[in-house]
Amino acid sequence: MSTTQAADMANAALSPFGALEHQPGDALLSLIVACAADPRPDKIDLGVGVYRDAKGETPVLDCVKLAERRLVEEQGSKAYLGADGNRVFVSLLGDVVFGEGMGGRSYHTALQTPGGTGALCLGAELIARGNPGRSIWMGEPTWPNHAPIFRKAGVPIKTYEYYDVAAMRVRFDLLVQALEQAERGDVFLLHGCCHNPTGAELTGDQWQEISRIMSARGLVPFVDVAYQGLGDGLAEDAAGVRAFLNTASQALVAVSCSKNFGIYRERTGALYVLAETADEAARCHENLVSLSRVFWSMPPDHGAAIVAAILENHELKQMWRHELGEMRDRINSLRGQLAAAHPAFAPLASQRGMFATLPLSPEAVLSLKEGHGVYMTLSGRINIAGLGAETVSRFAELAVPLLGRS
Ligand SMILES: Cc1ncc(COP(=O)(O)O)c(C=O)c1O
Repeated sequence: MSTTQAADMANAALSPFGALEHQPGDALLSLIVACAADPRPDKIDLGVGVYRDAKGETPVLDCVKLAERRLVEEQGSKAYLGADGNRVFVSLLGDVVFGEGMGGRSYHTALQTPGGTGALCLGAELIARGNPGRSIWMGEPTWPNHAPIFRKAGVPIKTYEYYDVAAMRVRFDLLVQALEQAERGDVFLLHGCCHNPTGAELTGDQWQEISRIMSARGLVPFVDVAYQGLGDGLAEDAAGVRAFLNTASQALVAVSCSKNFGIYRERTGALYVLAETADEAARCHENLVSLSRVFWSMPPDHGAAIVAAILENHELKQMWRHELGEMRDRINSLRGQLAAAHPAFAPLASQRGMFATLPLSPEAVLSLKEGHGVYMTLSGRINIAGLGAETVSRFAELAVPLLGRS
């Protein structure tokens, strides 16, 4: 070993960063950069994780602009709100997700969080602290951030299959099998609606069945609600989470306002915890506060203030429902067009939300990108909102011959 290498090693041992390894870049971010740099005028960007309108833009909703104007006029202070965050926001958002008055659920608690991600992290930490060693079950595929969040919190992860990518169909039998294998007290992560990345939807009956098995077997649902209103409607998309309201002894629900209010960068969300007794709810709340105090001390205000201003004003709320409906209709219309473009895409019609995972190999995904300027994640996930009425048939012509993955 040269003296320089020996000195480097000694320095590394002293540096607080000496043991840090290089981390893989975020594949989605590099995809966005590559697509932006692609000069081809007919490129198709299906890689992004945000809603796009017919012009390919992600605009600020009119109701958000109006709410922001009101806040500028009326907000009298920027002092801290306290660890709970904006209580009006948490309560009104709870009405949207669970129904008025938390759907009649007796014992519950909630905290405002920085986005749905913050809610998932906080919930993961609560489980790790509340019942160390309890496993969380997550379906494969799922949102790529789910596993790292629970791993970081030290919650053991078990995976289950629920989806046949080749046939683009839900395998409810496999999901039920996993529920039957789990141990009493295990937590099950479920997407409330508009599954990311598959678009897979469960029927109302299937949600009821899951809820029945989970309460019989003493399993705990952790529902991730990141796309409410972008599938079939606000109440329709809440059917899954509401199936647990009166059956689950305990449940966790992470809610994101990023997509359905289009306020992605405002980092707006909340974690709701359903408890069995008043004392359990109080202990959950005290622990959520002590955890969040360490992570972010107080949640950011602006996004929650916007959502509260919209939900507490009849006119703004109606406007939001209308604008959300427009986003939903555009996504569902594009889904319908793609499903009609080729029989191989037929299953897309019964799926919901912005995303679908096509049975394309990584080689096929790369050839679509390199040969035709069609961008999607290597897993074959497409953002339906990245299509336009004029690009659906071209995309189908290019992608269909490449479909097929075991
Ligand atoms: C399934 C799922 N859960 C949670 C989130 C996190 O949302 P947020 O941006 O509010 O943190 C996302 C965002 O893409 C998501 O797709």
